[in-house]
Amino acid sequence: MSKKILLSGVKPTGRPHIGNYFGAMKQFVDMQNEYDCYFMLADYHALNFVQNSGEMKQGILDLALDYLALGLDPQKSVIFKQSDVIEHTELTWIFDAITTMPYLERAHAYKDAEAKDKEISVGTFNYPMLMASDILMYDTDVVPVGQDQKQHIEYTRDTAQKFNHVFSKEVFKLPEPKILDTVAVVPGTDGQKMSKSYGNTIPLFASDEEIEKAVMGIVTDSGADIPQNVYAIHRLLKTEEELAPLYEANKGKYKILKDALVKDMQDFIRPMREKREQLGHDLDYVMDVLKEGGKRAKQKAEKKMDEVREAIGVKLY
Ligand code: ADP
Ligand code: TRP
Repeated sequence: MSKKILLSGVKPTGRPHIGNYFGAMKQFVDMQNEYDCYFMLADYHALNFVQNSGEMKQGILDLALDYLALGLDPQKSVIFKQSDVIEHTELTWIFDAITTMPYLERAHAYKDAEAKDKEISVGTFNYPMLMASDILMYDTDVVPVGQDQKQHIEYTRDTAQKFNHVFSKEVFKLPEPKILDTVAVVPGTDGQKMSKSYGNTIPLFASDEEIEKAVMGIVTDSGADIPQNVYAIHRLLKTEEELAPLYEANKGKYKILKDALVKDMQDFIRPMREKREQLGHDLDYVMDVLKEGGKRAKQKAEKKMDEVREAIGVKLY
């Protein structure tokens, strides 16, 4: 029996943090044996935010290093960058034609941007359609993401259904989101959702000093026995049972608890950071991984687009 197909993507914008890791990336690593995996660097999604060639290139290389250092294995999985498979943007256009403006206006990400009164690019407005193309192109069964991406998967399913209905052909499969409940939202150092945009992150490949600084900055104004924000992050690294004696013995002693978290976080991050440093000395290898992944993804995308062009009636020969 063939394995189910898994696809996920990350935008190459800035350093990943432990929220990205526990919310998404860790699941990628764990699922490599169980699924046929596609891990995409979403550079065209990032273009809405990164509009500088040097920064874009660096971001792509950094993310490729992150992926490899985390344990994604190019022997098992297809690791590729979105822009190497131009079929994604072609399919986006086709989805645009069957999608209405009011439907996209209801997307959370768009409404949030609008509420902040930002100048919204057409690309940002259209973001869910590019994401639907990424996912539907590979007959994806499951998409591991954090809670904040759930609506995008619903949009993807709607779009697949709409296409199949409009063109009376079952071209696209409906994907399922895969969200780990226990860590669906990783809290940041201020107790809000950890996010680059809130400046409350602990970077995934942080140095020992950065970890110490971030942990010491965790907000603990609760006055309670257990500093909730410290505990919530600690729980990502250890079980309730493992932590119970420490927190029991040190009720209200925030400094001791933070010191313990610093040490556990440093031990957790160190091996990954060291692996990433090693890979950074061999960028030719990293480029080869992306090139090879791009070729493999493209082969599959070309086949799918043939089916799509046939279904919509533009394929004459
Ligand atoms: P950020 O909010 O820092 O900009 P992204 O939007 O780039 O993060 O998210 C990349 C991936 O990591 C997504 O799949 C997202 O759902 C997941 N993710 C981001 N922040 C968290 C968090 N605090 N908890 C759980 N998952 C998260
Ligand atoms: N929108 C996702 C994010 O911001 C990134 C992404 C792009 C993605 N294409 C995808 C995630 C396809 C899963 C599947 O995190």
